[in-house]
Amino acid sequence: MTLRVLREPNAAAAILAAGGLVGLPTETVYGLAADARNKTAIARVFAVKGRPVDHPLIVHIADRAAVADWAAEVPAAAEELMAMQWPGPLTVVLRKRTEVSDLITGGQSTVAVRMPDSAAALHMITELGRLTGTRGAVVAPSANRFGAVSPTSAAHVVAGLESFTGPDDAVLDAGACRVGVESTIVDATGADLRVLRPGAVQVPGGLNGEKAGGVEALSPRVPGSLASHYSPKARVLICSAEDIQTSAESRFDVPGQEPMDRFGLIAPADVTTPVGWLRLAAPHDDTEYARMLYAALRAADEAGVDTVIAVLPAEGPMLTAITDRVQRAATK
Ligand code: TXA
Ligand code: MG
Repeated sequence: MTLRVLREPNAAAAILAAGGLVGLPTETVYGLAADARNKTAIARVFAVKGRPVDHPLIVHIADRAAVADWAAEVPAAAEELMAMQWPGPLTVVLRKRTEVSDLITGGQSTVAVRMPDSAAALHMITELGRLTGTRGAVVAPSANRFGAVSPTSAAHVVAGLESFTGPDDAVLDAGACRVGVESTIVDATGADLRVLRPGAVQVPGGLNGEKAGGVEALSPRVPGSLASHYSPKARVLICSAEDIQTSAESRFDVPGQEPMDRFGLIAPADVTTPVGWLRLAAPHDDTEYARMLYAALRAADEAGVDTVIAVLPAEGPMLTAITDRVQRAATK
């Protein structure tokens, strides 16, 4: 069974309105979308992903007014963030309206809402609203099997999910994702804004979950915060550029290494590739690094690389999000 690839947002909206699932292009990663008002379709999202049902989903909307369909209240700080960043790679966690399904919230009293910066996605959500007589909304986790690397192209979605989707499902192809790592998640239910997952949006004055006692210590469940996530089959190690240069002459030793092991390198463009290693990505800055990261991890598995060595970018606004994702990929 293969997964149909569409380029027409209206055709994708018709699939959603009929209860099907659609691979959703966004600026961060591709999602697996279902009509947020159709519980049967939402249940299928969990089945196709192989995701535990108590892990909450993000509601994606195309219109700021639609927040009121899901959230019981919007604090001023959240309102300000949304006004500044939407459409964009920002998810805001708010107190939910009582009627919002436990399937979406994982039984919590909060709901996560985001407006993606993708013309195709916004068009599709708006058209879904027209077809169903609502302000359209879709739930969409990243379109990968649970724990695997998130997809940043329609081809990744097809490769990862086509054995699990049905004949009526499809993916809406709007090209490669511009940002490449998942949205910043901000909990706006407390007195201070708290970052639950770092992404491209920086939150001025926001408490970072890590600093506030570790992301996992926070009360809302964030599966992306499981220690091991976004993992390729290959083992991933974080090294400095100096480690690479010195090891280029001698043998690179890692625990459990076999003599014939293949090495892959993800590193800034100015780091030279040791002889015999496969260069997986050579980004020129942190933005390009984030955009290339997941495709590079996939390429490692496709090439049968045993160990991916990652040299982090030296600086830049994407550094926190990149470090977070590489560390999780490095945890087995
Ligand atoms: O960039 C993104 O956010 C992508 C694209 C497709 O929009 N979506 C995405 O979804 O990354 P997913 O399901 O892979 O990750 C969503 C994260 C999960 O870690 C989930 O626990 C968290 O959002 N989340 C959802 N609802 C929440 C809530 N009410 N409170 C706290 N975290 C929540
Ligand atoms: Mg995910």
